[in-house]
Amino acid sequence: MTTQSITELFDLSGKGALVTGGALGIGQAISFRLAEAGAAVLIADVNLDAAKQTVQEIESRGGRAQAIAADVSSGKDAERAVQTAADAFGRLDILVNNAGIFPLVPVLDVDEATWDRVIDINLKGSFLFAQAAGRQMAADGRGGKIINIASVDGIHPNGVATHYNASKGGVIMLTKALALELAPHQILVNAVAPGGIATPGGENARTQVSETTGVPAQAMVDGWLARVPLRRMGEPDDIAKVVFFLASGAADFVSGEIIVTDGGYLLS
Ligand SMILES: NC(=O)c1ccc[n+]([C@@H]2O[C@H](COP(=O)([O-])OP(=O)(O)OC[C@H]3O[C@@H](n4cnc5c(N)ncnc54)[C@H](O)[C@@H]3O)[C@@H](O)[C@H]2O)c1
Repeated sequence: MTTQSITELFDLSGKGALVTGGALGIGQAISFRLAEAGAAVLIADVNLDAAKQTVQEIESRGGRAQAIAADVSSGKDAERAVQTAADAFGRLDILVNNAGIFPLVPVLDVDEATWDRVIDINLKGSFLFAQAAGRQMAADGRGGKIINIASVDGIHPNGVATHYNASKGGVIMLTKALALELAPHQILVNAVAPGGIATPGGENARTQVSETTGVPAQAMVDGWLARVPLRRMGEPDDIAKVVFFLASGAADFVSGEIIVTDGGYLLS
């Protein structure tokens, strides 16, 4: 293997990437960074309008992107999104399984529909997209990188979302299982486990809990920050930078790893 320069390692020019849930929040920041590094990015999201706006933003910065409406819990949508990326960009090198939902409901109140929806989107969706992308990458024979967005809540229970904890714990084991099985195809599979990132989804979740419990949303943020050694909420770009590292040539011998990115939250 020839030694690449730092610039070459971090250059994603000519690569094709697919980011689920890339319209807003963490997925949007990931799409921005991958496109900035030169990758062509297909954003697959249920919110097509927001996905198109993110595409416009990427294009205005000189990057290349497209949007497609897709629900990650659908196998058909996974196949369609992967095919679209392969057709549009001529290749698929990077998949980021980012789309996820996190309704905060106490365990005794979780209904079956909520359990199913969370598992279907967070866990089954990651599997379906990884399988569809894995088939494409294996057939192309160029290898690839799959990066799953897990959560600190997949490592430690948060006390307000058993269904979410279980789904993200599943994503962590899915990551390791995929890494082992896809290694013969030179497909590397890793996960980033964020904690406490300021996103539209996080704000909605806090607002909903606040409405049902009467606890002010700011009190929830303060309670979280009291446990974060770095004493700040994370920015979506804090996660995007780690995803970018895993997608880059700097991580060509890393597979099956979970990188916790939480300002030290799990230490406390
Ligand atoms: N925000 C945090 O603190 C935090 C912490 C740990 C893990 N995460 C994980 O990071 C990921 C992104 O979270 P976020 O905070 O940016 O969320 P967000 O709600 O701000 O954005 C999620 C994006 O995913 C899209 N989406 C939702 N359901 C979808 C579906 N079924 N199919 C396709 N797209 C769908 C939404 O339209 C949106 O664009 C999730 O997997 C979440 O569990 C977030």
